[in-house]
Amino acid sequence: MALSIETRDVPFDFPPAQGLNDKSMQLLSYRLRVFDLILRELGDPAGRHYVDLGAGPLIFAQRALRHGFAVTAVDARPPWTGAVYEGIAHVLADVRDFPLDGFDVIGIVGLLYHLRLDEQVDLLRRCEGRPTIIDTEVWCPELVDALGLGSTRVQPAATTLGYSGATLQETRDLWSSFGNPDSFWLDEPGILRVFEESGWRSATLMEPPYFSRFGRRRWYLLR
Ligand SMILES: C[S@@+](CC[C@H](N)C(=O)[O-])C[C@H]1O[C@@H](n2cnc3c(N)ncnc32)[C@H](O)[C@@H]1O
Repeated sequence: MALSIETRDVPFDFPPAQGLNDKSMQLLSYRLRVFDLILRELGDPAGRHYVDLGAGPLIFAQRALRHGFAVTAVDARPPWTGAVYEGIAHVLADVRDFPLDGFDVIGIVGLLYHLRLDEQVDLLRRCEGRPTIIDTEVWCPELVDALGLGSTRVQPAATTLGYSGATLQETRDLWSSFGNPDSFWLDEPGILRVFEESGWRSATLMEPPYFSRFGRRRWYLLR
């Protein structure tokens, strides 16, 4: 069955009165605003368990907890700040073989693009049947060229499966891939095709996509 696509507008606007002039703060604030909206869209959190895959500094896990979900945060690395948050169970594990049974809502925030393409498909298949929230880099060569964002670490590539995108050379930073020397960044048609081929029936695209250091990113809600 074909993937049905709808869009939701979350304007990327920061009135001067908000005093958020710093670009990185604007980005974080926007990401949190979209995440909050998606959580609200999912309905009553009572009795539901959210798993945050690639949870990093636990910013989004804390948000889900405050929203009312039971929360498990999974990352191959310990929480970046070393802080422990009451109510968040932290599991040190590789998401590529972490079992997802028993969770009701799945978050893949800032993680998908740190996986290889086959690992992305496998993870998205294993999320089946649960609302899945994704925030990811979207390969957009026109934007990269227009803004002069080219980097030797990101190189256009095509896969044997016919997807076009780019290969990212990973670092060993806290926010990088765990276990992959490089990862695959899909372009938007490729992302939507992967959703469909992983068995998803409905994707909500949060508008607009927003800027990253390497081009653009977007939030998606899969159901
Ligand atoms: C870009 S950070 C995103 C952190 C957080 N979700 C956010 O958006 O603020 C990517 C996170 O995914 C984790 N990660 C990368 N590959 C992983 C893997 N195979 N298994 C578990 N965690 C992984 C990294 O350790 C890092 O904390």
